[in-house]
Amino acid sequence: MKLTIVGTGYVGLVTGACLAEVGNDVLCLDVDPAKIAILQGGGIPIHEPGLQEMVRRNAAAGRLRFTTDVDEAAAFGTLQVIAVGTPPGEDGSADLQYVVAAARAIGQRMNDYKVIIDKSTVPVGTADRVKAAIAEELARRGVEIPYAVVSNPEFLKEGAAVEDFMRPDRIIVGSDDERATLLLRALYQPFQRNHERLIVMDVRSAELTKYAANAMLATRISFMNELANLAERLGADIELVRKGMGADPRIGYHFLYPGVGYGGSCFPKDVKALRHTASEHGMTLKVLTAVEQANAEQKQVLLHKVVKHLGEDLRGRHFALWGLAFKPNTDDMREAPSLAIIEGLLARGATITAYDPVAMEESKKLLGDKIAYAKSPLAALGQADALLIVTEWKEFRSPDFDTIRQLLKQPLVIDGRNLYDPKLMRELGFDYDAIGR
Ligand SMILES: NC(=O)c1ccc[n+]([C@@H]2O[C@H](COP(=O)([O-])OP(=O)(O)OC[C@H]3O[C@@H](n4cnc5c(N)ncnc54)[C@H](O)[C@@H]3O)[C@@H](O)[C@H]2O)c1
Repeated sequence: MKLTIVGTGYVGLVTGACLAEVGNDVLCLDVDPAKIAILQGGGIPIHEPGLQEMVRRNAAAGRLRFTTDVDEAAAFGTLQVIAVGTPPGEDGSADLQYVVAAARAIGQRMNDYKVIIDKSTVPVGTADRVKAAIAEELARRGVEIPYAVVSNPEFLKEGAAVEDFMRPDRIIVGSDDERATLLLRALYQPFQRNHERLIVMDVRSAELTKYAANAMLATRISFMNELANLAERLGADIELVRKGMGADPRIGYHFLYPGVGYGGSCFPKDVKALRHTASEHGMTLKVLTAVEQANAEQKQVLLHKVVKHLGEDLRGRHFALWGLAFKPNTDDMREAPSLAIIEGLLARGATITAYDPVAMEESKKLLGDKIAYAKSPLAALGQADALLIVTEWKEFRSPDFDTIRQLLKQPLVIDGRNLYDPKLMRELGFDYDAIGR
């Protein structure tokens, strides 16, 4: 099949590469010439395991190309996949300007049947808006060309995006157009050889499914974070409680980890957008209101712990910080808890040396020289009053504790990801503070 991907970010690039991998002809469009130049030069603008090789392989085979030429992109794909950003507007609603602009650009140029696929996370009713925008553009041109708009929300996880796309748990297709549904079935057939994973539903239900899933995951995290804070006061260990809870198949072990709050480009904005949608329809989503509030507080938990150990005034204090990305295996720092922690420490006069395996370049773009960077985890520790662990990268799981203790000015480790055994840490001579233990 011939596909155009509109928006070559985390979702667009992974989608384009994976669809090319199974033999489709894919043209990826972006309005950012710098991004397209990197891709045309054989690089990739983001860190995502397995993606670079897949992009190279398919580009070399001629199945995956990159462009900033909107005319070429609109003419190319029978399937036009919209994967542009939907950032939060000032009122918390999803800002649809990029989605609508992408739809209009297609409507202004298309000359034959197109299926427009909304892959971006968009509020219920967006497919109707996209349909209307295209209809307006066609009417302006005085032409009648058949087209369909379907919802196909994306569920990939950054850090495992290629794997998730190639082996999806489910593929949601919201469509009221039979021809379009058939095309999407054919498109996704290579990804579900083992058993059917495609769930076809009406467009509005598909749009809501994406928000419902992210809101549920955010709820699990905030719930565990609140319980962790309670466990700490009660003298219980949340890690044992977590295991006890997860053993119940109705609950399950996934996504029950307490930490420093959820971040990233999806949960925060999607929770906000769903609350906004509800309020537009005269409803308050009480659970999600609390989820958001609990998360905002949780992002301050590490900072409160620092203050508890070292006092409010942190002038002259220096901290080693492990992990900047909002989660492991990505360089994405959108809404990362590390940013809130760094901001709080700097505001109290502290200095920071950070280490992250892949996100330091991204951090430099966001923070400039406000903090220092180290080339390795151990190199970040010199003269630090404490080690703060913010992202659970694998390489932090079994470090050289003796060297850590020697390098730190005092043996204080504040662990926002519960990586170590508190008893062992005490035996090793650390003052170890984690989440809910
Ligand atoms: N990142 C994730 O893990 C993830 C997962 C599932 C769903 N989503 C959703 O997918 C959407 C995209 O997210 P992302 O993280 O890939 O965003 P991103 O910011 O990484 O990428 C969006 C890209 O679209 C480009 N763009 C904007 N307007 C354009 C236009 N008119 N034509 C062509 N290109 C245009 C931007 O330059 C940018 O490169 C969002 O709605 C997001 O909520 C993201």
